[in-house]
Amino acid sequence: MHILHVVGARPNFMKVAPVYRALAGRQQTQTILHTGQHFDANMSAVFFDELGIPKPDINLQVGSGSHAEQTALIMQRFEPVLLERKPDWVLVYGDVNSTVAAALVCAKSLVAVGHVEAGLRSFDRTMPEEINRIVTDRLADLLFTPSADGDENLLREGTPQQRIRLVGNVMIDTLVRLLPRALERRDSLLARYHRRTYGLVTLHRPSNVDDRSALIPLLDQLSAIGMKLPLIFPIHPRTRQRLGTDLARYHASISFTEPLGYLDFLALQSAAKVVITDSGGIQEETTHLGVPCLTFRENTERPITTTVGTNLVVGTDPKRLRVEVDKILRGEAKKGAQPPLWDGHAAERIADALLARPSAAAG
Ligand code: UD1
Repeated sequence: MHILHVVGARPNFMKVAPVYRALAGRQQTQTILHTGQHFDANMSAVFFDELGIPKPDINLQVGSGSHAEQTALIMQRFEPVLLERKPDWVLVYGDVNSTVAAALVCAKSLVAVGHVEAGLRSFDRTMPEEINRIVTDRLADLLFTPSADGDENLLREGTPQQRIRLVGNVMIDTLVRLLPRALERRDSLLARYHRRTYGLVTLHRPSNVDDRSALIPLLDQLSAIGMKLPLIFPIHPRTRQRLGTDLARYHASISFTEPLGYLDFLALQSAAKVVITDSGGIQEETTHLGVPCLTFRENTERPITTTVGTNLVVGTDPKRLRVEVDKILRGEAKKGAQPPLWDGHAAERIADALLARPSAAAG
């Protein structure tokens, strides 16, 4: 069987890595296609190296643009490759523009497509990722869900049960495999930041960073938090662009860094007092690590991290962040447990499910 993986943006890379390994272990033919949605070395190449993914066989080099431009360019450049390579299955990952663009091309070319991390819903259609999730799930022939809420969402929308496979969380597969290596480098990394006790921050959602009248008050509050608990903030290119020269105002209480590689970021997460984020994957990783997470959003598409894990969705009032950080510093952090099937073996279940169904028609 020939499986073609489509990846494009940073959160895709830790998801494809274990699936590629599981299929390689089962002697399948594989092609990795990178759309080029993320192109900076520290947003892309470093992950391939650290995660042990082979260099992409194909790079569509689409770069950035508006949603329509980026999605359309991926579709335009992906179609001839798909027709030439003729894979038995295409696997798409997560909820980025590359995911939906590839799924659309496959559906119209009658090529079977599997969606890894299917069924997640924030029920907030102002998020571009929510649109990408809904459309991709509608088109996919096999839907691999990370948790039972994903199955419930899909069934409610009318997806036939026989297309759904509850496999667990592939991002946690990567974490389980690489945590020992991340821990080896933790002491030297913390020495570099002169930190033992710190909070870790990531913010890049358009709703938080695109509008400066929301972004600046948020940074002001983070700066106040940083006076009590030093903060390390690896800053996404989108956020850096929006902050511009204002970044310099916050240096006293926040250590800004370039986006970090997977191992460094994991090492920093594992020892953080708290992680403040608007990312999806980080809500999951902190749950697995048992580290308190404050999600600066009105909703989450990953509710299991709040019901079972350590995640608290705090909304988008920056003052609430201070209140919740104070609670954590007083020792009142939320305790969590491991969600079912977040055990390091989700990708093997995906590989087995694919091999049990060599073509879309078989189901
Ligand atoms: C994308 C995903 C988001 C994911 C995030 C992780 C979509 C709709 N969004 O958002 O779900 O959480 O990736 O990072 O697919 N840029 C660079 N260098 C890069 C990549 C981007 O400078 O390597 C700049 C570009 O100028 C671009 C901006 O960052 O304008 C945003 O990039 P884009 O790919 O549009 O979306 P993200 O915000 O990264």
